[in-house]
Amino acid sequence: MQIAIDGPAGAGKSTIAKKLASEYGYIYVDTGAMYRAMALYLIRCGISADDKEAIEKACEYADISIRFIDGDQKVILNGEDVNGLIRTQEVSNMASASSVNGKVREKLVALQQKLAKDSDVVMDGRDIGTKVLPDAEVKIFLTASTKVRAKRRYEELKEKGEDCDLAAIEREIKERDHRDMTRTLSPLKQADDAILLDTSDMDIEQAVKEAGRIIGEKRNECHSC
Ligand code: DC
Repeated sequence: MQIAIDGPAGAGKSTIAKKLASEYGYIYVDTGAMYRAMALYLIRCGISADDKEAIEKACEYADISIRFIDGDQKVILNGEDVNGLIRTQEVSNMASASSVNGKVREKLVALQQKLAKDSDVVMDGRDIGTKVLPDAEVKIFLTASTKVRAKRRYEELKEKGEDCDLAAIEREIKERDHRDMTRTLSPLKQADDAILLDTSDMDIEQAVKEAGRIIGEKRNECHSC
């Protein structure tokens, strides 16, 4: 069983995907974390986002893998668990910028497809329904207005005690959306057979419930065909 959840930053993909995976006993694969690990490697090497040649070379040296500990995905970069280091704004921006590179995508898509071949998965990202798992039984395109997504991110950071500015967060989200949606390779877009779920007016429980309802319907269709 493959469940693909795509959508822009801050739509609630990872929270929803994680809850659903634990409910169904599937593994949850956060593909953004892989692009983030690659981005961290590039930052550490001092490689700039527009240095195509250096990024392609770096793909040969960055060994990225995934481990699951108590159901939680850990991203391993050259033997190091980098989970706690990949959620910064710098890494977010580098991940969005370097993910336009074909070699980076090729490397990480192969890893994602292998994971989905070996287990039932709920996988989230930008190109899961369109490129990574085109035959997924369920595809959901999860979105919310830019304002709502920025507000959610703002509250998340505030809760962690971090100093932040709502207008700046909204600006960054818009920039990242634009880059992710307009790149040439596997841009973020709703797959033709994906179901749109707009969570702007929902809290997390309502969104999980609605996603669960969509999945339930699709699974019934799959079992009866
Ligand atoms: O989901 P996220 O915010 O952790 O993703 C970080 C960046 O990685 C995102 O801006 C674009 C890139 N990405 C991608 O190109 N394809 C994916 N399947 C997942 C993420």
